[in-house]
Amino acid sequence: MTTRYLVLFLVIALGLPAAVGSEELEESSDSAGEYAPGGSGACTECHDQPATLAILRTPHGVKGDSHTPFAAQGCEACHGPSAGHAADDEVPVAQKFGDDFPAEPQDAVCLSCHRGGERMLWNGSIHEARGVACASCHNIHNPRMDVLQKDIRPDALVRKDASAACYGCHPDVRSQTHRISSHPIKEGVVTCNDCHNVHGSTSDHLLVKRNVNETCYQCHAEKRGPFLWEHQPARDDCLTCHASHGSTQRALLKQRAPWLCQECHSLEGHPGAAYTAAGLPGIGSAANNRFLLLRSCTNCHFEVHGSNHPSGVRFTR
Ligand code: HEC
Ligand code: HEC
Ligand code: HEC
Ligand code: HEC
Ligand code: HEC
Ligand code: HEC
Ligand code: HEC
Ligand code: HEC
Ligand code: HEC
Ligand code: HEC
Repeated sequence: MTTRYLVLFLVIALGLPAAVGSEELEESSDSAGEYAPGGSGACTECHDQPATLAILRTPHGVKGDSHTPFAAQGCEACHGPSAGHAADDEVPVAQKFGDDFPAEPQDAVCLSCHRGGERMLWNGSIHEARGVACASCHNIHNPRMDVLQKDIRPDALVRKDASAACYGCHPDVRSQTHRISSHPIKEGVVTCNDCHNVHGSTSDHLLVKRNVNETCYQCHAEKRGPFLWEHQPARDDCLTCHASHGSTQRALLKQRAPWLCQECHSLEGHPGAAYTAAGLPGIGSAANNRFLLLRSCTNCHFEVHGSNHPSGVRFTR
């Protein structure tokens, strides 16, 4: 009996001021920092649009995988503890995503689970430095129906087609891929990701390998050699002669032969330029044509990447 009165007394004497104190505290912090009672169910009561709920069909919605957001706090695993917002929608949700909001706090949410693997070098990468957020490329809520580019894994939740993911910000590259000679990117045979790791890389231009040639050898292994007779520029850098995305010359060449070759090789002995009308067909002597026309220098020096023929020192066989 007496203990009950004592408890009552304590509640009246000490509890009241304490309760007032905590009420003040709650008001000032809008109860941010607390998870909504009822979890995701509390959110989907209002946010029941198909485009929002589609997240439940993505890899993030797999409750059976203990690493996913929906095995933990559900919506709030990404949008932050938002009891205040769930109770009163005038109160903003703790974490918003998209281009209108600062990238760093958004990315921190994603990186809390995805720091490893391909994203090892995200911090300090050019996309990170320019404030391109994960959500600029990834379409977290509304996945696969947007994925058109065949080679981007549909479960990677990448936005729209490649055009939304990359071309929106890199229109110059899009126009390069429409040139007369190009890597079959628009056909979906080769994708941006075959050559670039957009999450960060140790090489220039976010390449997947440590340099240009290693990147090219992934698919053009026969150009790696080893060759008995090496052509130095091919060993150095494929981009000495080739463009990576597209070119107005055939075979992705930066320039046509003979001019391409004559950047380094002297004109003497091997006239490649039409000095006079004699260099053109049908007018005068056709003596120079083979140096100028068709494939020009590569009419004869066709093993321009290197040769394994015992007498291929001039790359003519
Ligand atoms: C009572 C209904 C209601 C509940 C419950 C609710 N929301 Fe909202 N939410 C809204 C309304 C209304 C808006 C639009 C308000 C605005 O744009 O400022 C909104 C906006 C949002 C936005 C968009 C913010 C932006 O501007 O991009 C997110 C994200 C969000 N809510 C997440 C949640 C999460 C997570 C929960 C559960 C913890 C939740 N909501 C619970 C009504 C609700
Ligand atoms: C894996 C992290 C993640 C989880 C989990 C998540 N969201 Fe989102 N949410 C995002 C991102 C990122 C965006 C920005 C839009 C986009 O890129 O898809 C977003 C946008 C929103 C928006 C704004 C929609 C718009 O188009 O303006 C609402 C509302 C929203 N989320 C509600 C929810 C609700 C409700 C849940 C739980 C059912 C939830 N989110 C779970 C990451 C998440
Ligand atoms: C609570 C941890 C968690 C958070 C937070 C989270 N993810 Fe995930 N995410 C996962 C798990 C687990 C998977 C399941 C696939 C896997 O094992 O990689 C996944 C899958 C993905 C996939 C598909 C990967 C694949 O291999 O198919 C992408 C893309 C992705 N997340 C991006 C994001 C982005 C962007 C954000 C921030 C908006 C985010 N995630 C936030 C845990 C998380
Ligand atoms: C510039 C666009 C872009 C940005 C920014 C970006 N991603 Fe990606 N991400 C992609 C593309 C494209 C793929 C598909 C790669 C593939 O299919 O190999 C991908 C794949 C993924 C995958 C699945 C592949 C894997 O590694 O398991 C995850 C997870 C992922 N991204 C998370 C993130 C996170 C987290 C961030 C932010 C720190 C982020 N991404 C930023 C474009 C982007
Ligand atoms: C939201 C805009 C945005 C999106 C989307 C985007 N990028 Fe970028 N990207 C940038 C910015 C900004 C830079 C820095 C450009 C600069 O400094 O000129 C950059 C730089 C790059 C670079 C390095 C350029 C260099 O010379 O070092 C590559 C490669 C690249 N992006 C590829 C991609 C690919 C592939 C995608 C699609 C998966 C993509 N980007 C999507 C904005 C974007
Ligand atoms: C066959 C390999 C390959 C493919 C496929 C590829 N790139 Fe590149 N990309 C390169 C190389 C190599 C460089 C660096 C040399 C250069 O400037 O051309 C580069 C440079 C870049 C740059 C910086 C220079 C510039 O031209 O602005 C951007 C941005 C870029 N790539 C975006 C993309 C996008 C977007 C895609 C997909 C549409 C893509 N790349 C597909 C190999 C590739
Ligand atoms: C992901 C695979 C892949 C990578 C990586 C790749 N290529 Fe290609 N490349 C192709 C395909 C596919 C073709 C088209 C072949 C065809 O049409 O027969 C091609 C064609 C070419 C052509 C001939 C184009 C023509 O019009 O005849 C050149 C030159 C070329 N690539 C150079 C490069 C260079 C340089 C790199 C490194 C920057 C590179 N490739 C990286 C797949 C790749
Ligand atoms: C010295 C200039 C030069 C360099 C450097 C060079 N190429 Fe070439 N490449 C050419 C020329 C010229 C052609 C067109 C050959 C012809 O006339 O058929 C060509 C054609 C190609 C082709 C299409 C025809 C074929 O042979 O398969 C591919 C693929 C190719 N190069 C890949 C590469 C790769 C990969 C590298 C880097 C290891 C490289 N090239 C370096 C000049 C060069
Ligand atoms: C970036 C400079 C560069 C370009 C462009 C270039 N080459 Fe070369 N080439 C070299 C170098 C360096 C050597 C090695 C010279 C040496 O060993 O004395 C070489 C060697 C050669 C040789 C063997 C010559 C010898 O003395 O053994 C031939 C033939 C040749 N190149 C043809 C071509 C043709 C054809 C093209 C155009 C498709 C071309 N080169 C483009 C730099 C270049
Ligand atoms: C009609 C065939 C043919 C054409 C076209 C041709 N060459 Fe040659 N080239 C040869 C032969 C054969 C040799 C070897 C000559 C020797 O061993 O004395 C040679 C030798 C060379 C050499 C080695 C150095 C030298 O002078 O002996 C270089 C470099 C070279 N050519 C570059 C070129 C360039 C650049 C072009 C285009 C402007 C070109 N060639 C066009 C047949 C040709």
